[in-house]
Amino acid sequence: MEKKELLYLSSADVESVLSRRDVIDTVEKIFRQAGEESVVLGQNSFLSTGDGKPNRFIAMPVSIPQEKVLGLKWINIYNQPAEGYPFSHGNLVLVNDTETGSPLAVVSATNITTMRTAGGHGVIGARCLVKKDPKILSVIGCGGQGCNGVGGFLEEFKSLEEIRLYDAYPAACEVIAQMYSESGVEFKVCSTVKEAVEGCDILMTCSSSCEILVEKDWVKPGMTVIAINGFQDIDPEVVRLADKWVIGMWQEDLLHYTTSSDLTHGIKLDESMVYSDIPELLSGKKAGRENDEEILIYSHMGMGAFDVACANIAYTRAKEKGIGTILEI
Ligand SMILES: NC(=O)c1ccc[n+]([C@@H]2O[C@H](COP(=O)([O-])OP(=O)(O)OC[C@H]3O[C@@H](n4cnc5c(N)ncnc54)[C@H](O)[C@@H]3O)[C@@H](O)[C@H]2O)c1
Repeated sequence: MEKKELLYLSSADVESVLSRRDVIDTVEKIFRQAGEESVVLGQNSFLSTGDGKPNRFIAMPVSIPQEKVLGLKWINIYNQPAEGYPFSHGNLVLVNDTETGSPLAVVSATNITTMRTAGGHGVIGARCLVKKDPKILSVIGCGGQGCNGVGGFLEEFKSLEEIRLYDAYPAACEVIAQMYSESGVEFKVCSTVKEAVEGCDILMTCSSSCEILVEKDWVKPGMTVIAINGFQDIDPEVVRLADKWVIGMWQEDLLHYTTSSDLTHGIKLDESMVYSDIPELLSGKKAGRENDEEILIYSHMGMGAFDVACANIAYTRAKEKGIGTILEI
């Protein structure tokens, strides 16, 4: 019988049913399924706002047959946002039932985006590449990604003792230090990028800076670099310096890094420089870190499949608990 209603979940609804652990596990599951080619990654569609500003929307369609759902992530990336607005907000995910085609849920997904990125695929990348028992995490850029990234790394790496924070606005670092003050980890707000980077085990770059903040020479043997924002805020030459460059998914990422000069400051990166993708590491087809001296770098521009899978978990849990707003179709 035709479905007559769907569930709307607000950010607060999502937060009440979706934990950091859920997101990390879901991202890992999606990487594995994508590696087995059991996720259908539709063609992402980039839509310019057409008003002469460097602003656009991205539609990311995906089908996840093993979860019996398909859906669409719809996000805005505004490099020139309206006054008082962030560069991206109000992300939405639409979840449909694969068998019937019916819409199941519309999910407010801005917090899913931040949780599944630095705190989701960033964490999985680090798990595959980091030295045993990492002690020091450095975070460059302390906005939404930095904040949720710290949450995800604290959830995953219980050995962390120190987290260094750097941002153009030190107040953003203080917010994170305060938020996780009961974690037992020492937070250090750094006044220079170099101070934050030197001697860390994991370096996560997740600022919105279009200028290089991390210089190649600061990246030393043993470090694992998690480059959330491509190579916009870290010298792309780190790829040549590194022993291995791992990307999220061959089919999703390669095009970004080899064709978008925005992500690489015009420096030519090509397929031959890539060692592996995450599904190959998770399946054991390729080795991750092989000794404590390797410099390893991971970058991934994200997949709508993470968002749709997380939104589906939130929908399933919310339905069980009677959370959310039922909307008539
Ligand atoms: N790879 C992915 O899957 C993925 C997904 C979502 C977002 N992103 C990228 O992650 C980046 C961060 O996103 P966000 O939501 O945290 O943004 P945000 O605006 O919440 O935070 C960005 C932070 O970077 C800081 N920053 C900007 N320029 C700086 C500079 N020159 N020096 C120091 N700090 C600086 C800002 O002060 C801010 O605190 C964005 O560029 C976004 O495109 C990547």
